[in-house]
Amino acid sequence: MTTDEKMEALLNEGRVFPPPDRFAATANANNKSLYEMAENDYEAFWAKQAEELHWFRRWDKVLEWTVPFSKWFVGGKTNICYNCLDRHVKGPLRNKAAIIWEGEAPEQQRVLTYWDLYREVNKFADVLKNQLNVEKGDRVTIYMPMIPELVIVMLAVVRIGAVHSIIFGGFSPESIKDRVLDSQSKVVVTADGGYRNGQVIQLKRNVDEALAGNDAPVTDVVVVRNMQYHMDIEIDDKRDTWYHRAMRKANHFIPAEEMDSEDLSFLLYTSGTTGKPKGIMHTTGGYLTGVHYSTKYVFDLKPEDVFWCTADIGWITGHSYITYGPLSNGATVVMYEGSPGYPDKDRFWHIIEKYGVSIFYTAPTAIRTFMRWGEKYPQRRNLSSLRLLGTVGEPINPEAWMWYYKNIGHERCPIVDTWWQTETGSIIVAPLPGVIPVKPGSATIPLPGYDVAVVDKDGHPVKRGEGGLLVIRKPWPSMLRGIYGDPDRYYETYWKKFGNLYFTGDGAKIDRDSYLWLLGRVDDVINVSGHRIGTMEVESACVDFPAVSEAAVIGIPHEIKGQAIVAFVTIKDGEAHSLDLIQEIEEHVVAKIGSIARLEKIFITAELPKTRSGKIMRRLLRDIANGNVIGDTTTLADPVIVEQLKQRYESEEGN
Ligand code: WT7
Repeated sequence: MTTDEKMEALLNEGRVFPPPDRFAATANANNKSLYEMAENDYEAFWAKQAEELHWFRRWDKVLEWTVPFSKWFVGGKTNICYNCLDRHVKGPLRNKAAIIWEGEAPEQQRVLTYWDLYREVNKFADVLKNQLNVEKGDRVTIYMPMIPELVIVMLAVVRIGAVHSIIFGGFSPESIKDRVLDSQSKVVVTADGGYRNGQVIQLKRNVDEALAGNDAPVTDVVVVRNMQYHMDIEIDDKRDTWYHRAMRKANHFIPAEEMDSEDLSFLLYTSGTTGKPKGIMHTTGGYLTGVHYSTKYVFDLKPEDVFWCTADIGWITGHSYITYGPLSNGATVVMYEGSPGYPDKDRFWHIIEKYGVSIFYTAPTAIRTFMRWGEKYPQRRNLSSLRLLGTVGEPINPEAWMWYYKNIGHERCPIVDTWWQTETGSIIVAPLPGVIPVKPGSATIPLPGYDVAVVDKDGHPVKRGEGGLLVIRKPWPSMLRGIYGDPDRYYETYWKKFGNLYFTGDGAKIDRDSYLWLLGRVDDVINVSGHRIGTMEVESACVDFPAVSEAAVIGIPHEIKGQAIVAFVTIKDGEAHSLDLIQEIEEHVVAKIGSIARLEKIFITAELPKTRSGKIMRRLLRDIANGNVIGDTTTLADPVIVEQLKQRYESEEGN
């Protein structure tokens, strides 16, 4: 099927699944009152959600809004870590499991109660504050594997009012360097090594390489000893400290800093349409209100639930739905270090059985992988503890949705398809599972408190049944407050297009029931396995390779990953076109960005299609690679190039 045919099939999807009666009967929301409340008085609705948190001082004003800058709960004082820990250890949750951690090696397990987590976070807060002189507002970069210390460190950072910038463990030294320099981090926290998909990754060595020979302002690197066997790493006595040694000397109580609601809490870098990742800025009171509220209602969280979000904390999903949302709600979370296929392909189902997981949140790309592995793996395990399933990261194809519904949820569990972004901080479009009937492939309707629309290029709402661009019309508490160090880019990226509407970068269609069907990015961003990669970033990594002269990067549909990356490159005169060269370019891109940017295909060509003013026409390359009819070529400098390219591409594909 071509892309267009697939899209058509998706939009003809007619199945509807109402909330099961048994689920709705006890759901945190089982009628439309939240929608009505938000509709009637937007600010009062959000104030009510914020009241679920602990505030040292109540706000004077719910919202101040001057496009494109919003301030929420103005004048209020709170602390994210206090809300996740201190208030729970004062009551009956004190000895409840906060984190159930499972290592990749099957017998490895650690459980931290709320009190345990509270104690460790306090100690590390003291390490940061009093041993490393980290002050309120200072940035701390975290580059760690999925181990409990990662949660301890991030909570300790926000406890003292510092700002974390977490970098996913799959990023390269070069990517770490860019992010450390951009955020001007004072401290980096890492581990000797970690596991990723069954392989050992050299975290400390990557940090050393990132910090070598540049003027990064990093004074200290803290290293968690994580590997079972001694890992060969270098310790620079002037700069590096072992985590366990620092913790031995630490104090047991450090009060949570009273933060202004609008104080920065963290930066998270994400790809955009230029070569440089953007440091998305999130603040305190509004962010926590958004994640607290969505966790409670979208995941229908109850005190007895065991919640497992399979994302890595290096992405926003892990920030919001492993750490902050669940812990501020006093939940028990499962945290898994390793890969889904080790030691066997039933590992996830084994973990669900072992801990009685009741809510499971994962990505479509993972579901498609499980589909390919086959039903026999989930069938081996008892999944009867599950009561709710979720997905995030990209549109889910109805086939994968049905597989998930049948084989994991046993046709009992509602599925919440949650649309949101690093920039939105928390879930924006998703069903309330006790209220809204779901349709496979649709994220359904906006949550109460969000004003989302599909508009045409002039910003006018499209009619039901039509497609357009997804925008958010009113500010929301957990929205990004800017791009670190680049206020102009904030306006340019999200606001310039429509002036007073937040532009998401996604295309969407709205059906006759007002359900939203997300159609993917409309900008130069590719979504590979639910992770965002900018085409420009990959292009600059390609042309950075000495033999390459030009590169154009596009996304193509991929059965498992959703999208895969294809690069069309021209090489310099005198360079030989060979398989070795292709491999070297591929490795170079991985070394520059990280394994998440691995190219699916490199196509070497003598020329790229360009307009008369010299702009590469990626649209035509997309048509070629997707097997679509070639679009308008009238602006091309030399239309023959496209025909030749198409023929060569197709004959290579056929081989
Ligand atoms: C982009 C945001 C926020 C979680 C992980 C990704 C796509 C995300 C869905 C969904 C269709 C989705 C969008 C969005 N996306 N969730 N349920 N259905 N598309 O965060 O890296 O900031 O990427 O992911 O294209 O713009 P991110």
